[in-house]
Amino acid sequence: MIDTVRNPRFGTAVGCLQPSDLVRDALVKIESGRPKMCLVVNADGKLLRSVTDGDVRRGLLAGLTLESALSDLPGREPVCAPSSTSPAELKFMFDEHRVSSIILLDEVGRPVDICSVDQVVAPVLLSSPHIGDAEERYVQQAFDTNWIAPAGPNLALFERRLAEVSGRREAVAVSSGTAGLHLALRALDLPKNARIYVSDKTFVASVQPVLYEGMTPVLIDAEPLSWNLSADALERQLIQDHAANSLPGAIIVVHLYGQSAQMNRIMALAGRFGIPVIEDAAESLGALYDNRASGAHGLISVFSFNGNKIITTSGGGAVVTDDPKIAERVRYLSTQGRDPFDHYQHSEIAYNYRMSNVLASVGLGQLEVLHDRVAQRRAIFARYLDALSGIPGIGFQQDWAEAKGNRWLTVLTFDPDHIRLHPYQVMRALSQRGIETRPSWKPLHMQPLLHSAEFVPHSQTEAVSSNLFLRALCLPSGSNMSQDQQDRVIGNLTEILHRGGI
Ligand SMILES: Cc1ncc(COP(=O)(O)O)c(C=O)c1O
Repeated sequence: MIDTVRNPRFGTAVGCLQPSDLVRDALVKIESGRPKMCLVVNADGKLLRSVTDGDVRRGLLAGLTLESALSDLPGREPVCAPSSTSPAELKFMFDEHRVSSIILLDEVGRPVDICSVDQVVAPVLLSSPHIGDAEERYVQQAFDTNWIAPAGPNLALFERRLAEVSGRREAVAVSSGTAGLHLALRALDLPKNARIYVSDKTFVASVQPVLYEGMTPVLIDAEPLSWNLSADALERQLIQDHAANSLPGAIIVVHLYGQSAQMNRIMALAGRFGIPVIEDAAESLGALYDNRASGAHGLISVFSFNGNKIITTSGGGAVVTDDPKIAERVRYLSTQGRDPFDHYQHSEIAYNYRMSNVLASVGLGQLEVLHDRVAQRRAIFARYLDALSGIPGIGFQQDWAEAKGNRWLTVLTFDPDHIRLHPYQVMRALSQRGIETRPSWKPLHMQPLLHSAEFVPHSQTEAVSSNLFLRALCLPSGSNMSQDQQDRVIGNLTEILHRGGI
């Protein structure tokens, strides 16, 4: 009698039981099994069935107890195949049966291996780097000319081209988007006790530099149209802070998932109260707002070239602005703040944040394909919209008259009045089928890090950011996704939602 079936490639194991064993025994085996299941075999070791948590749950609901025999458990035929089945055939079977593992049998029907979906079907990732044809050439050029030192001609060229693409006079490339935000804040020379308004619905990096500087974040809710900083909440708070003589030192506005905030209203309000605006455009390079590049509206804007972004330099970021003095200050602060002497003299705290010439070489290649990448992501969004918007309760972050997003990520919302499953349940079910999805950013006001920060809701009755967080799911959106991979996402998602009850 065999006790376990091991997966030699992944080193995982699943326990075996006999039909007379108890449901309780199965639960113990499932708990320690990888994947989470156990197998029921007869005295000859031939496979009778598999048992998962779901099978046990259905059995208990049908009146069995933990002491019932496994032979009484209502069952489904396990999905199995001869161990000689080719990877191509297995791939077909995974698609056909929509399961996450297939049991492989020897010639007499004994289980010999458990093949999981990611062994034969490449996982569909959320947003992976998509390298073009030119990057290697630029990097090779840096090597050929020995410009491996931090600064160099490709860095200067990358900055010039980035400034053009983002509709700005100046660009300074740095080691990350977070570093860029830190430098943007430092460049404003604000007092240490400054209050800084920050979009609430964002990745934590938008607020970290405020905390590095010991300043006080005030978290401004999102609004339903753009999912970005609410101009209503902003106006209310500015009026209140103006009256209390506690206006903020700056406003950090995020363009979430590549869709711009309502910058016309935000800039008008900021102008009325004389507050500088930093755009956190980490996710929105290549998007348009009011016929200008996203990131061309505030005083200073910051991009990220992290590996998951629309274009990447492996890791990196940039600060762009129309003000040469700000650009000069950012450059100075990014290179340890060296005073203009022959010797090394320093008068203030500064950083080693500059991007290297080698990584800027990757960026030069990526900039050449930026427009293609935006077009590809927008096409992926259009396909999801077409295939999924007919499902009752599914919503999307929309473009609107002034804004054309780069569709860095396609994000769905689930209306709980129509869709029974929580987005996390969908995320886990998709993950079992080799498809990576993610929850939307947890709002800053819900983060333990910011538990004492002030939060300004969109209206007296509505907190939009937390509502979005509880309903949204980010779908795989990489510009290198194949049609086939998109079909897999659409097919599996539709099936999981229907099975969960729409
Ligand atoms: C909205 C937002 N801001 C800032 C960052 C920080 O960028 P980086 O990872 O390059 O530091 C990111 C991404 O990582 C982001 O999504």
